Amino acid sequence: MIKTIDINSGETAGLYQYLSAAVTPRPIAFVSSIDKSGNKNLSPFSFFNVFSINPPILVFSPVRRVRNNTSKHTLDNVIQIKECVISLVTEDIAQQVSLSSCDFDEKTNEFEKAGFTEIKSDLIRPSRIKESPINFECKVNKVIHLGEEGGAGSLVLCEVLKMHIDETVLDDNNVIDPLKLNIVSRLGANWYGRTTKDSLYEIAKPISRIGMGIDNLPEEIRNSKILTGNELAILASAESIPQKISSENNLNALEKHTKAKQLLLDGKYEEAWQILL
Ligand SMILES: Cc1cc2nc3c(=O)[nH]c(=O)nc-3n(C[C@H](O)[C@H](O)[C@H](O)COP(=O)(O)O)c2cc1C
Repeated sequence: MIKTIDINSGETAGLYQYLSAAVTPRPIAFVSSIDKSGNKNLSPFSFFNVFSINPPILVFSPVRRVRNNTSKHTLDNVIQIKECVISLVTEDIAQQVSLSSCDFDEKTNEFEKAGFTEIKSDLIRPSRIKESPINFECKVNKVIHLGEEGGAGSLVLCEVLKMHIDETVLDDNNVIDPLKLNIVSRLGANWYGRTTKDSLYEIAKPISRIGMGIDNLPEEIRNSKILTGNELAILASAESIPQKISSENNLNALEKHTKAKQLLLDGKYEEAWQILL
């Protein structure tokens, strides 16, 4: 059975729950902004991502409160002073970030409330956050309002002017190591995700190679009752059907597919092909 949700039923709060629990996991932007009187603000936003590399553009979306249709201070601030620091949220600071999301009044400095340390930015007025290993100094290029009622988001298009990376999250090749970074993701309700070794795996997809596709697999493999869509996709990532190099085996189709399945699970995709040929 499929549960179908009618978007026009007018139930914004319910829709909020379904959308935010479905589109997951989301990264979290921890946004430092100031208003025209110089009041500082820190707030997290998980409606957030990177959308362009050249120019480097990050976008986050403060949503109008559903209960009273008021706007978030962060949105008011970036309209007044078109600058912000976006920093990333690791497990070490996730509880402090959550604390900073309380509805404090606009005069409250969340750096103090949630125990963060300010570092003066190089190019903009809002401060960076010492406890976050990655900080982006941004200018706000544009704000696009998506509606006027409770639940309406406003896209804040931020151009990165400077990126600061704590070197402790880099590996020997100066590349960000996801395990050292341990970024936290936002899921539905009160759920958050960690970036631990057992939650990570690699999917090799060299851009130089064009996989043959599942439609080009031999029919017997394509219609396997044993191999899943994921496993067929690994086989179909080869550019063409490989040459048979190993000697004949006496296995029947069921046995071949079962053995290939185990080899794929072990990451031995060339050997899996040889069993199937
Ligand atoms: C992890 C996390 C992610 C959040 N993401 C969003 C979001 O994407 N959009 C939003 O409007 N509010 C989001 N919130 C709630 C805001 O942080 C909260 O409303 C905050 O009080 C806004 O502060 P401000 O009014 O000082 O800007 C999030 C809260 C948490 C804890």
